[in-house]
Amino acid sequence: MKIVTAAAEIQQLAQKLRSDGYRIGLVPTMGWFHEGHLSLMRTAKMKADKVIVTLFVNPMQFAEGEDLDSYPHDLERDRGLAEKEGVDLLFAPLAADMYGQGFKTSVHVAGLTEGLCGGDRPGHFDGVSTVVSKLFNLTLPHLAVFGEKDFQQLAVIRQMVKDLDFPIEIIGHPIVREANGLAMSSRNSYLREEEITAALSLSKSIGHARSLVAADPAVSVAHIITAVKELIHRHRECSVDYVEIVDRLSLAPCSSITADSVLVLAVKINQRVRLLDNSLLTVQ
Ligand code: PAF
Repeated sequence: MKIVTAAAEIQQLAQKLRSDGYRIGLVPTMGWFHEGHLSLMRTAKMKADKVIVTLFVNPMQFAEGEDLDSYPHDLERDRGLAEKEGVDLLFAPLAADMYGQGFKTSVHVAGLTEGLCGGDRPGHFDGVSTVVSKLFNLTLPHLAVFGEKDFQQLAVIRQMVKDLDFPIEIIGHPIVREANGLAMSSRNSYLREEEITAALSLSKSIGHARSLVAADPAVSVAHIITAVKELIHRHRECSVDYVEIVDRLSLAPCSSITADSVLVLAVKINQRVRLLDNSLLTVQ
């Protein structure tokens, strides 16, 4: 596996792979790989001839006071893990190379970015859309794999790809969970041992919501949201950023439960660790 840090070099290598007739699969990441990232890499490997993984903690998607500086980072560790998965190229650029002097462009996807995480983190999705556009242009993939844990991000990227005519297939990968149910995330490394029970209230409350729908498919949206919040708030460490039930594609709030209704949660543990989780509410 080759590690590339220069934007111009990765683009040349991607151009060469394309002209040699290879299908390129891209996995964009911010590093600190866990089983969730590794399964994205395996999916890309199954669906493409060559896999490019990008590792870039993108300053443009972090606001002042967020965890840009403390985001876990160990290139050697990640290099070993990506190599084991048979990744062909690991692109790990410096911020100065991605956002050179005089950088002025921002990609904004309207509507989809206003609520949920976009409401709590204004500007976050402009940072994501901008960097993902740049990564698409630098790595020239035929397909790109993103995790469904960042449910809104995936919807935003799908919309951007459609609107801007990127000739790239976007593949959503189901959430990968720890044995205890916790959705895998690099930010789980911020959790202290004594905070795990509180963190598990996200997946547990999703399980409860799904059982409410299984027992009564006509159960009201308000009833589910109240029940979920109640379960989460039993843990004094938890504060809810949002609990909503939205349509899978439009992200518009659902007025009743349908096959496309997704329960989406963002919860802070001790005001320090912001966790996300989501699930469709009906058995598919
Ligand atoms: O999901 C992430 O890790 C990031 O938001 C992404 C897509 C790599 C863009 O920086």
